[in-house]
Amino acid sequence: MNSYVHYRDWFNVRNTLPKEVRIGFVPTMGALHQGHISVLEKARRENDFLVLSIFVNPTQFNDPNDYQDYPRTLELDRRIAAECGVDALLIPGKDDMYPSGNDMPILTQHPLSQIMEGKVRPGHFSGVLTVVMKWLHWVNPARVYFGEKDFQQYYLICELVKQYFLDLEVIGCETLREASGLPLSSRNQRFNKEGLELAHRFAKLLRSGSYDDLASIQRRLEAAGLIVEYIEKHFGRLFVAVECHGIRLIDNFRL
Ligand code: PAJ
Repeated sequence: MNSYVHYRDWFNVRNTLPKEVRIGFVPTMGALHQGHISVLEKARRENDFLVLSIFVNPTQFNDPNDYQDYPRTLELDRRIAAECGVDALLIPGKDDMYPSGNDMPILTQHPLSQIMEGKVRPGHFSGVLTVVMKWLHWVNPARVYFGEKDFQQYYLICELVKQYFLDLEVIGCETLREASGLPLSSRNQRFNKEGLELAHRFAKLLRSGSYDDLASIQRRLEAAGLIVEYIEKHFGRLFVAVECHGIRLIDNFRL
């Protein structure tokens, strides 16, 4: 497995690959866990050449502390990449990804970018779409993989690909969960014992009772000590965001 920091180094390799080689691409922010691994394994199975990127993208964080505190575990990530059969690992720095700052962003006004995560985290989806657009031009894959855990992100990227006529397939991947139902997330690594227990409780509470009365689910979550940011139904799915011991948790699933 070779690593590339600057896009031109990767272009030199990509241009030597025969045309029929299908490139599968998994963009991440690192701190890789089993959820990322399940996405990498699917991409490995479905493509000839597997590209993984690791870049904590500053433009999608509206809170600078959240960006600073984001877990970074590059040595472990490299080992996981090798074990998952990654062919090329792309790990740019901030200046490689944004050589002249963020002066050419994708500014989305799509209705789905204005609600839930888009409302709580203003500018978040513009940051995501900007960096993903850069990645897709950099890597030029046949298929790119995203988790349904971040369903709004996945949906908006499908829109980006459609509206900018990008010639590739966007593949959605099921959310990998703990036995309690809690989605695996890099942020889970930040919990202490108490916080983790409450996070599992959150997952279990979400899965008990009916989904007709969202206000009663909200009351149950709040009674357990969670701060509910939103709980909404769209596309036949339930979307929830809470603050649990100072850490944000999001989830969504088909009803
Ligand atoms: P990150 O949070 O590192 O996630 C990388 C990919 O892994 C995303 O597509 C995410 O939905 C998926 N993923 C995370 N947890 C998962 C789980 N438990 N089960 C299945 N898939 C899971 O999402 C980002 O990075 C960034 O916004 C990015 C797209 C890389 C742009 O910077």
